[in-house]
Amino acid sequence: MTDTLYSIFDSHAHYDAEQFNDDRDEILTSLPKKGVVGIVNMGTDIDTCLQTIALTEKYDYLYGAAGIHPECAKDLPANWLTQLRTFLKHDKIKAVGEIGLDYHWLELCPKETQKEVLTAQLALANELDYPVVLHDREAHGDMMDFLREYRPKGVVHCFSGSVEMAREVIKLGLYIGLDGPVTFKNARHSVEVAKDIPLERLLLETDAPYMSPEPLRGKRNDSANIRYIGERIAEIRGVSPEVIFNATTENTKRLFGID
Ligand code: NI
Repeated sequence: MTDTLYSIFDSHAHYDAEQFNDDRDEILTSLPKKGVVGIVNMGTDIDTCLQTIALTEKYDYLYGAAGIHPECAKDLPANWLTQLRTFLKHDKIKAVGEIGLDYHWLELCPKETQKEVLTAQLALANELDYPVVLHDREAHGDMMDFLREYRPKGVVHCFSGSVEMAREVIKLGLYIGLDGPVTFKNARHSVEVAKDIPLERLLLETDAPYMSPEPLRGKRNDSANIRYIGERIAEIRGVSPEVIFNATTENTKRLFGID
């Protein structure tokens, strides 16, 4: 690793998370000095959508997405979709997210409820012509059915599927988001995906405070650590890190309509 300052755009983070309660402002003030030119913070429920909006108003380089995460899709207030519409009118809210399917934590929300909430949000995104940020954990088959039916524009974040699935996602016009796992020593699928997909469809992300890359695995994550992810993908593709960072920054701006 070098000390080169890369142009880093973190397409997926959670700076509203309680893990940042002690030093959130300190971190968000320091990141631009480490090359971070942009962040898209995710809402996961009504409360974190409001926190995301507040963060976008405080930090110029921080943008947001508003959505209901599948783990938070149970027992929503009756007017949740109306509230979401209001959030999406904010000029720094650039996508519907984080939304999707999570079949790993079914006790948090049953499949049928997850699907209903996802359906409503995909329809809303298409109606308003917004990109979506999709979470797909252990739900690849159903996720692909949704993508084929709704044809949203957007990104499948923390992509964990096969190369074949990645190719189909790209054929449907979406982007692939890669994060910490591509640096793990036992990584297999994500390394193949990082090598195979067209560079113009790749986004980098942290999912901070989660998913820290090697050599920081297990520690709290932040957007500056994307350098390890981009450097690893550059190594996998046999190009210089700058090529990866410049392309993914452009890709993130293009997808989310950021100048
Ligand atoms: Ni996330």
